[in-house]
Amino acid sequence: MKRFFLFIALVALFVLPGCSTSENEAPSFDEVYLSRRSIRTYDPAKTISKAELQELFKAAQNAPSWANFQPSKYYIALSKEMHDAVAEHLGANRDRAKNAPVLMVSTFEKGKSGFFQGQQTNELADEWGAHDNGLSDAYLILKARAMGFDTLIMGMRDSDGLRQVLGIPENETIMAVIALGYRAEEPREPVHKPLDEFIKFF
Ligand SMILES: Cc1cc2nc3c(=O)[nH]c(=O)nc-3n(C[C@H](O)[C@H](O)[C@H](O)COP(=O)(O)O)c2cc1C
Repeated sequence: MKRFFLFIALVALFVLPGCSTSENEAPSFDEVYLSRRSIRTYDPAKTISKAELQELFKAAQNAPSWANFQPSKYYIALSKEMHDAVAEHLGANRDRAKNAPVLMVSTFEKGKSGFFQGQQTNELADEWGAHDNGLSDAYLILKARAMGFDTLIMGMRDSDGLRQVLGIPENETIMAVIALGYRAEEPREPVHKPLDEFIKFF
């Protein structure tokens, strides 16, 4: 009998802690990208910590960029004062983002991606900076979803107002404002084009 209890105790000590319920398991990549949607209504009761934001941005930093220039920057409005100040410059998006606890403004440094020794490498020039910023946004919104958060990328915003409020230098191009929080309603599934309009095989 003693041996039996010893066996049970050993199982409990070494085997059970390694078992995780499906709740604790990290979501698969498919679960992450399929459940990510643009969210336009956020739960006002939930917040996001600085430590969680640091984890999120560590992931976004893994995005590839032209010659590893990493031209993207994020200005993160956490305090109510800054959140309100940024929201002032969101126009029609203001209501959509109002209960998201975090608003982030993404920018890229001009003259980096797409350039070599100060000269533009091809016809796209600084458009490569926008490209790289979109890539880091993509990493950001997918990692956010993997952490259980939701996002809305907003291209409709007043960049001059944001530049002033956040003190963004002139050598940075302001791209999107991204709302980060927790969904308060289930989003609609967008319609995607047929695959043969998206890809072409040769
Ligand atoms: C660059 C960019 C700008 C966008 N700007 C806005 C915006 O200003 N307001 C908004 O409600 N949604 C905006 N969206 C969200 C798109 O409408 C959304 O991604 C699209 O309808 C597909 O839906 P899904 O994100 O749920 O898959 C933007 C998305 C991107 C990538």
